[in-house]
Amino acid sequence: MTQTNSMQSTPTAAAQAVTGSGELAKPLVQLNHVEKHFGALHVLKDINLTVNKGEVLVIVGPSGSGKSTMCRTINRLETIDSGEILIDGEKLPQEGRALAKLRAEVGMVFQSFNLFANKTILDNVTLAPIKVRHRNKVEAEREAMDLLDRVGVASQANKMPSQLSGGQQQRVAIARALAMHPKVMLFDEPTSALDPEMVNEVLDVMVELAHEGMTMLCVTHEMGFARKAADRIVFMADGQILEQDTPDAFFEHPKTDRAKDFLSKILTH
Ligand SMILES: Nc1ncnc2c1ncn2[C@@H]1O[C@H](COP(=O)(O)OP(=O)(O)O)[C@@H](O)[C@H]1O
Ligand SMILES: [Mg+2]
Repeated sequence: MTQTNSMQSTPTAAAQAVTGSGELAKPLVQLNHVEKHFGALHVLKDINLTVNKGEVLVIVGPSGSGKSTMCRTINRLETIDSGEILIDGEKLPQEGRALAKLRAEVGMVFQSFNLFANKTILDNVTLAPIKVRHRNKVEAEREAMDLLDRVGVASQANKMPSQLSGGQQQRVAIARALAMHPKVMLFDEPTSALDPEMVNEVLDVMVELAHEGMTMLCVTHEMGFARKAADRIVFMADGQILEQDTPDAFFEHPKTDRAKDFLSKILTH
């Protein structure tokens, strides 16, 4: 952590230690002094965040606090006004091939199902590896089938997205992102548009990924998942990171009034 200001907390020693397992922590995603406005609205305020290799971050905070915008800046779906973002030590390029390459290293799964509606499940997964990575079709399909199997939907490979449930579609979206061999996976409320009975089948895949060592940033209100899978909770409000700590420390001893208020609202049900 390079800096602190009055409102931003650095992760505790405990939060940093869990990432290590003996190895030196290697920063895969770094946001340094990131600022972003939408017109007059200041949505990201001096965001400083480091995600180490293999680390699982869960980002929580009230609606409108800038969680989605922060995720979208990481693969440059949104520009930033100032500051810098590094992926595996490389600064995010502005545009062109270099951006496409770096963006391919960041997998993203959104709230809304965003599979290509007119392509089969298998084609959804193989499209980018073939087009962007220039993978051979047979190989790409073999790997896609392995990935679909891993997320439990291999039997749906030849169907169209509309024939699958929301939970199945989100699992395909995860497989599709993994097919690009991303260095880090971003999840922006991947279960919040799902019927309740489908939430767990998606979270289970995410927990498994976390256990396999994938580096993950997950925006989610699923606190069970946060407790089970997160190395660190990042709490955002009003465009700022107000707290970051281990799940136990954050849930048991939130430091700021904003976090206490937020937790009292989501944990009372
Ligand atoms: N494309 C946009 N244009 C203008 N305002 C936006 C845009 N996207 C998000 N916002 C605003 O930025 C703020 C942060 O939004 P967002 O990052 O979606 O928050 P969260 O994901 O935490 O709910 C909100 O006030 C939202 O209305
Ligand atoms: Mg959001």
